[in-house]
Amino acid sequence: MSDNRPIGVFDSGLGGLTVVRELKRLLPNEDIVYFGDTGRVPYGTRSNDIVKKYAREDEAFLLSQNVKMIIAACGTVSSVAYMTADELPVPFLEVVTPAAKAAAEATKNGRIGVIGTPVTIKSRSHARAILRLLPDALIAANSCPLFVPLVEEGWISSDDSVTFSVAERYLSPLKAGDVDTLIMGCTHYPALRETIAKVMGEGVTLIDPGTATAEMVKQHLEEKDMLNPSGGKCKYFVSDRPDAFSKTAEILMGESIEQGVSQVDIFDYI
Ligand code: DGL
Repeated sequence: MSDNRPIGVFDSGLGGLTVVRELKRLLPNEDIVYFGDTGRVPYGTRSNDIVKKYAREDEAFLLSQNVKMIIAACGTVSSVAYMTADELPVPFLEVVTPAAKAAAEATKNGRIGVIGTPVTIKSRSHARAILRLLPDALIAANSCPLFVPLVEEGWISSDDSVTFSVAERYLSPLKAGDVDTLIMGCTHYPALRETIAKVMGEGVTLIDPGTATAEMVKQHLEEKDMLNPSGGKCKYFVSDRPDAFSKTAEILMGESIEQGVSQVDIFDYI
């Protein structure tokens, strides 16, 4: 048995592409439909109720594309809107559980750092997931709200002095906490991986939620006999400014988006 319907992936904007990049690497035969809610980014500074409402609308759009699975490629949605999974007719995967598992496996000194949006950090979603696996772990967390607009603006080079000093300020409490493992708990943050690594220094393992999630998706599709033997195409949709999206998306994905990016009216999917 196989299932050649696409995998649906969504985020508030560009960040979820760090998950798509890993999915394409690990599952090159899967078709993917990506939705970035660029008209309403950021999610991570809003109330939990608004994030849940947006997540439901994003999921409704993906279901209209006949997807076989939905991935919330957004740490914020994964932290506070995961209960929408019960309402979905297809399997739902999020990015917190796989990242927490990877961090618990990677740490040597039991000190794990978590960075994410204000909503994610306030929810303590990663801390709860880590403590279930490693009850004695010490967790240091900090929100980095300026990282998302920096990524959306394409200021992702490790030579960018503005991005570097923002990172130094956000990451200093985690360095002081002597963490040996750091979860980049927002899917936008792996775009700043080099900057974050430079600030944290050698000896700190960075956990990319995309890598950990792609592995879990692969396992799920294999177990359920839902792999696509002959796909490999990716369609991109956004709720605003397709041109602005494609420019940074191509840098993040390391390839051109040949099929282009289409705009959808997300208010049609309420
Ligand atoms: N990329 C998202 C996350 O993982 C959302 C960032 C935002 O919209 O604030 O949390």
